[in-house]
Amino acid sequence: MHIGLFDSGVGGLTVLSKLKERIPKARFTYLGDTARLPYGNKAPETLERYTKENIEFLDQQNVDAIVVACHSASSVALKMLHSQKGTPIFNVIAPSCEQAIKNSKNKRVGVVSTKATARSLVYPNYINSLDENVEVLSQECPLLVPLVEEGMIEDPITEMMLSRYLKEMLTEPVDTLILGCTHYPLLKEPISKICGASITLVDPAESVAGRILDQCEIKDDEPGLKVFLTDHAPHFINHAKQLLGALDSEPILFPKSQG
Ligand code: DGL
Repeated sequence: MHIGLFDSGVGGLTVLSKLKERIPKARFTYLGDTARLPYGNKAPETLERYTKENIEFLDQQNVDAIVVACHSASSVALKMLHSQKGTPIFNVIAPSCEQAIKNSKNKRVGVVSTKATARSLVYPNYINSLDENVEVLSQECPLLVPLVEEGMIEDPITEMMLSRYLKEMLTEPVDTLILGCTHYPLLKEPISKICGASITLVDPAESVAGRILDQCEIKDDEPGLKVFLTDHAPHFINHAKQLLGALDSEPILFPKSQG
């Protein structure tokens, strides 16, 4: 099986690493739109356009399934996601909402995300369309992506920001917290430390891998990974090494003409 996925940059590598772990006999094509990141503070119309273009690109690579590994892109583009070739498209939002509903005993679910995702209201809307009794607390955390990008995972500044962002979730306690941004699984440890054992973290990468395994006929392929980037991203290689061990080959630079 050949799976294509895209994200604005390095964040989607957290999704890729989970997919590789759960579907080891798959071949992967990864598109990191590093020229246009961050996606998390872009307008919905812009994100829709980027998403459409990225899906077209992955379709041209003849993939068997496409994963929109970016929450900000998934959140605004959820309804218009379709491929010209009819390739199945998976997003990171629906499976994690379903997982959160299943997990929550007190029916209070928290979601941390970028501004674009929080303002789209996609998480509360989707969760409440499945169960209207679940209360959803959303928190936008715009400073977390740059902190992760800078490698400041175990840094007092990151802990301070997390404590501030998670304050409401802790004072009116949720029992389930969705990590609604590709970068946040990298912060699992400091988030767990602040939240404590009573809050279960939902990693959307896990949920989407499960969804693909449930819905696709997984045919063994020659495992491999091809990475396309739309701009130079020196830190991409470091993050890739950290999450995937090593890259099979250098990322291919694929410049986009339009901004
Ligand atoms: N990948 C984005 C997301 O999951 C976060 C990074 C960005 O803002 O581009 O929302």
